[in-house]
Amino acid sequence: MTIKVIVHGAMGKMGKEVVNAVCRDPETKLVGAVDINLPQDFLILPDGTNKVPLSSNLAAIIDSQKPDVMVDFSLPPGALPAIRTAAHKKVHIVTGTTGFKPADFTEMAKLAEDNHIGIIWASNFALGAVLMIHLAKMTAPYFDYAEITELHHHLKADAPSGTALTTAREMAKKRGKPFLVPNAKDIEMKSRGEQVEGVAIHSVRLPGLNAHQEVIFGAPGQTLIIRHDTINRECYMPGVMLSVKAVPQRHGLTSGLAPILGLKD
Ligand SMILES: NC(=O)c1ccc[n+]([C@@H]2O[C@H](COP(=O)([O-])OP(=O)(O)OC[C@H]3O[C@@H](n4cnc5c(N)ncnc54)[C@H](O)[C@@H]3O)[C@@H](O)[C@H]2O)c1
Repeated sequence: MTIKVIVHGAMGKMGKEVVNAVCRDPETKLVGAVDINLPQDFLILPDGTNKVPLSSNLAAIIDSQKPDVMVDFSLPPGALPAIRTAAHKKVHIVTGTTGFKPADFTEMAKLAEDNHIGIIWASNFALGAVLMIHLAKMTAPYFDYAEITELHHHLKADAPSGTALTTAREMAKKRGKPFLVPNAKDIEMKSRGEQVEGVAIHSVRLPGLNAHQEVIFGAPGQTLIIRHDTINRECYMPGVMLSVKAVPQRHGLTSGLAPILGLKD
């Protein structure tokens, strides 16, 4: 069965990638696009064969196009109302918008339950990043020392990255205790990165970089390095498309891609 998809935030950088990915996949069909930025009232498909309606009126697009799934990559002030509208109209949701508050996730979980739909949210849809965190978690109990270097383009607003913070916290959770900090009392800690659960996180911001992270574990006589690199936004599409196909079977809110990939603690 072909899954009918609409994209919310379709004119954005991520939205455009999702439009391309949905159109490329034989199991999915783009039936509509939504954005507040409307150069015209239709979107020509990437292969030029057809066009779909483009509107700022999500409810109208859902009523006319009857999608199975809405993919949202926008901003929290617009994403949350869109998620409410889609949920009330029984449309499954995949969202990668970042910046939601804890209360927003509580509301999303309730919307999914009350409307018997699936909502998948992930802060990082790059499968390599999900696996990097998983592998780092699996390794964490066997090493007492670990540090993270994350390297991103110069326009990234936050530091350390959300992925680095999640990695450090998940690693410590798996160990059941913080990592040891070498020479903690003897050295100037200001130059040793941000300490999170005993993991020093070093943030590099430079033009020419995209998104990269290295987790380095240390023990007497050995190190183990887990590294993930992305070079463009295409890296997110396998995770997004996997979620689009999984979400109709997953009722309730799923946070993160680990359950979609079948990764267990
Ligand atoms: N989860 C992930 O893996 C991942 C990866 C990259 C980016 N992101 C997140 O995805 C979101 C979008 O990122 P981007 O780089 O595409 O940003 P962008 O600014 O290029 O695109 C956002 C789009 O959303 C539209 N929009 C904003 N408010 C809207 C509203 N109220 N209704 C409809 N459309 C609205 C904008 O017009 C724009 O076209 C951000 O929250 C970003 O942090 C997540």
